Amino acid sequence: MDVNVLNGFLKDEHDLEGWFFPQDMLSLAIFNELHSKNNIKGHIVEIGVYKGKSFSFLSHFIKDTENLYGYDTFPEDFYESTNLALENYGANVQYELIKADTSELNNDDIKAKIDGKGIRILHIDAGHEYHEVFHSLLSFSPYVINNGIIVVDDYQDPEFPGIEAAVLDFCEIDRPRRFVPFFSGANKIYLCVTHMAKLFHEGILSNVNIKNCSRLTVVRDFAIIKGFSKVPTSFETINQQLNQFYELGKNDSKYNNQRLSELQNKAKKYSKMCSNNYEEMTLK
Ligand SMILES: C[S@@+](CC[C@H](N)C(=O)[O-])C[C@H]1O[C@@H](n2cnc3c(N)ncnc32)[C@H](O)[C@@H]1O
Repeated sequence: MDVNVLNGFLKDEHDLEGWFFPQDMLSLAIFNELHSKNNIKGHIVEIGVYKGKSFSFLSHFIKDTENLYGYDTFPEDFYESTNLALENYGANVQYELIKADTSELNNDDIKAKIDGKGIRILHIDAGHEYHEVFHSLLSFSPYVINNGIIVVDDYQDPEFPGIEAAVLDFCEIDRPRRFVPFFSGANKIYLCVTHMAKLFHEGILSNVNIKNCSRLTVVRDFAIIKGFSKVPTSFETINQQLNQFYELGKNDSKYNNQRLSELQNKAKKYSKMCSNNYEEMTLK
């Protein structure tokens, strides 16, 4: 993504309405850059376009033969506003707006739209209730490529407790796991396929804007880097914890164990690793 375009969005130099904010713009731009560096290609799909703020931002990630798809019911003037947003602030790329209630789509509808290339970024920002998010995850995730990421909006917003529940339930479905949360932005959670988490962790920590304002947290059997943390730890600490996490977890089964004794052993093993170091923490 062109750095001037990114800066324009980060500084809010536009008149776009929406719920898409600088910290997640930056995080998405970093993951897009990682995809480019690793020659990872695929489509970008947004579920919940509203008036095109995040959609026009995402258009700047599109390369070569990739397509950008936006699903929304597009009531009122949303459709026209989105086209205008693209015209004024988007990149000159292929895009398609699909007027649909995504809760009524089945896998065949989605498959027919997304050709064999698959999805490399899936942004879920439509209905914010448990079953809506769960349905979006279930119906679109089969088309996300193994190097792709899924981004879900308003994770852990107390207004929408169903979002976190849907994401965590979704991550329990495949055994061994397919997707795990690996990064937490300002108000979005980022998921990737288990074996890609290490690459994305290293990638995001190599960014100067992230490396000194983050911390590591281990949830169930996955490690999440909390970017823009209120209580960041040093880059050295996170790096050491990550190495320890990958070493400790080598023999763990890749799903949440159900037996109490196994859960107790795991809790003991990981509780020391990321326990909060109040001496090092500076409250922001
Ligand atoms: C929070 S807004 C999206 C914000 C946008 N991504 C942004 O950052 O500016 C949610 C959008 O989801 C759409 N939506 C809600 N439920 C939907 C459904 N079942 N199918 C399709 N779109 C839906 C709404 O019409 C609305 O435009």
